[in-house]
Formats: sequence, structure tokens, C-alpha cells
Amino acid sequence: MKIKLIFGSDTGNTDYVVDTYIINLLDPYKVEVKEVHNLKPEDWKTDDLIILGIPTWYDGDLQSDWEDYYEEFTQIDFTGKTVAIFGLGDQIGYSEYFVDGIGILAKAVLHNGGTIIGHWPTEGYDFDESKGLVNDDYFYGLAIDEDNESDLTFERIDKWIKQLKTEIGQLTEFAQNLEMA
Ligand SMILES: Cc1cc2nc3c(=O)[nH]c(=O)nc-3n(C[C@H](O)[C@H](O)[C@H](O)COP(=O)(O)O)c2cc1C
Repeated sequence: MKIKLIFGSDTGNTDYVVDTYIINLLDPYKVEVKEVHNLKPEDWKTDDLIILGIPTWYDGDLQSDWEDYYEEFTQIDFTGKTVAIFGLGDQIGYSEYFVDGIGILAKAVLHNGGTIIGHWPTEGYDFDESKGLVNDDYFYGLAIDEDNESDLTFERIDKWIKQLKTEIGQLTEFAQNLEMA
């Protein structure tokens, strides 16, 4: 299994967590990293696991490159594709919009037929509202708060990636069982 990691970053925090933690922790998977502003339509024609990284900006808005790309994003057919999402946000400064971007991307993926893995517990965060929620207990993906809890970032990513590896294993086993049936 290969992984395509697509992210956008305005002030470098997302870029930093991708370079410093995520790529290393995804070892031994082969990871192709792309920034949203460099995307081409063929980047989506892949069987790889797709990981999307998005910080939320300006009271619940998408990061600027994702914002520019969003209309095209909503046209992508995600049928048969597996997607995991992580988002950066500030649960204290933007408590009513914490990691909204995770939810905005997740809903477009689900609407267009994709499967999302890597739901992440809300336990341990303190915020008022988020569009990133599947329900009261889970986000659609990993929430990272570099502004207030950068000391927890490594631990959170490490745990999330272990969870993704388990979920990928389960999906592969499920697909193999279907082929054998
Ligand atoms: C002007 C401004 C607006 C922001 N708006 C939000 C927001 O609505 N929700 C949120 O969770 N975080 C918000 N944040 C926090 C950013 O998402 C956070 O700083 C993130 O780490 C930035 O990632 P980047 O450097 O990759 O762009 C905001 C930060 C700034 C400076």
C-alpha cells in the first residue's frame, strides 16, 4: 500500500508536522507528498490511501489553498477510495470553529462516495463547537493544536498513525476475504 499525502499550510505549522512527524511515522509505507496548490487532476486517480491535511482559518474557513481548490475538490469521485484527514486548529482562540476544516473536507469525501478511516476521540480537547465532529465523541480525523498543545502533537500523531495502520490492515483483509468468497 502506498500513501498520497495532500496538505495546505498558511503559516507553516501543517508543513512542519508533515515533515517532522507524519512522514517518519508512516514508515514503512511509501509516501508521496503534494501541496494542494500543486495538485493535478491525475493525482486523484490513485489506489493509494489518501491522507488530507488542513488547518482551519478565519472563523471556520478552509486554509487558503484548500479554499481556492474547494470547488474542484467537490467534483472528485471518491468511490472506492479510502481517505484519512488530519486538521490543525486552535481550541482556545477559535473554540466555536475548532478544526472545522476536517469536517468540511470529510463531508465532501463522503458525499462523493469515499470511505473515511481514522476517526479520532474528542476526549482531552476543550472547545465549544466544531464542524469536524462525526458525533459528540469523535472527530472525522485527527485534531492537532500546535497553538496550545504542541507538546501532545507527537503522541497524538503516533497513536493516530498506529490506528490507521490497523484500519488499513482490516480493510485489506476484508477485501481479500471478499475476493476469496
Ligand atoms: C487569523 C486566524 C484565524 C484562525 N481561525 C481558526 C479557526 O477558525 N478554527 C481553528 O480551529 N483554528 C483557527 N486558527 C488556528 C490555525 O488553524 C492554527 O494556527 C494552525 O496551526 C495554522 O496552521 P498553518 O500554519 O499550517 O496554516 C486561526 C489562526 C489565525 C491566526
